[in-house]
Amino acid sequence: MSHGPSATGGAAISTAAPGHAHEPYVPVFTGETKARLAALMERYPTKMASLLPALWMVQEARGWVSPEAMAEVAQELGLTAAYVKGVVTFYTMYHQHPVGKHFIQVCTTTPCHVCGAEDVVKAFLEKTGCGELGVTSPDGKYTVIEVECLGACGFATPVMVNSDFIESVTPEKVPELLKRYQ
Ligand code: FES
Repeated sequence: MSHGPSATGGAAISTAAPGHAHEPYVPVFTGETKARLAALMERYPTKMASLLPALWMVQEARGWVSPEAMAEVAQELGLTAAYVKGVVTFYTMYHQHPVGKHFIQVCTTTPCHVCGAEDVVKAFLEKTGCGELGVTSPDGKYTVIEVECLGACGFATPVMVNSDFIESVTPEKVPELLKRYQ
């Protein structure tokens, strides 16, 4: 589907993605969410400057930032879809595909690696049922990825589960930790 012209008078942007024409895209920015976006934009000197938090609103609402959502954000902010995609693909915190309910990030950079981070990763992959990095578990609950230094090198192995930061994770602690994220 497509929306009307942007506030800056730009042409309407089609939000239909190839292969998804049978699933109409439901806009994120309607009603209360649209009002929140408007309030957000007032805090910045330009609409473009509110791009990162606008994308975060999308991810909070949908769990990921789809091509259709990128087009919607572009239209709301008077940007091109290509520009928005460039930003989304630059920042790894934006998910470009659906992920599990609980997104697990394990630091495997050298200091954590030498302290056994790979075994922590293995434990997560096994106990969540994900099996492989970046693959969502069959029950849709978990996705596990490796990330670069999380800034807690003295507390190997640090892990982020959604927005929670957990230090000193060992393979033995993984089952108990996962009970908190069902
Ligand atoms: S190397 Fe793992 S937190 Fe810095």
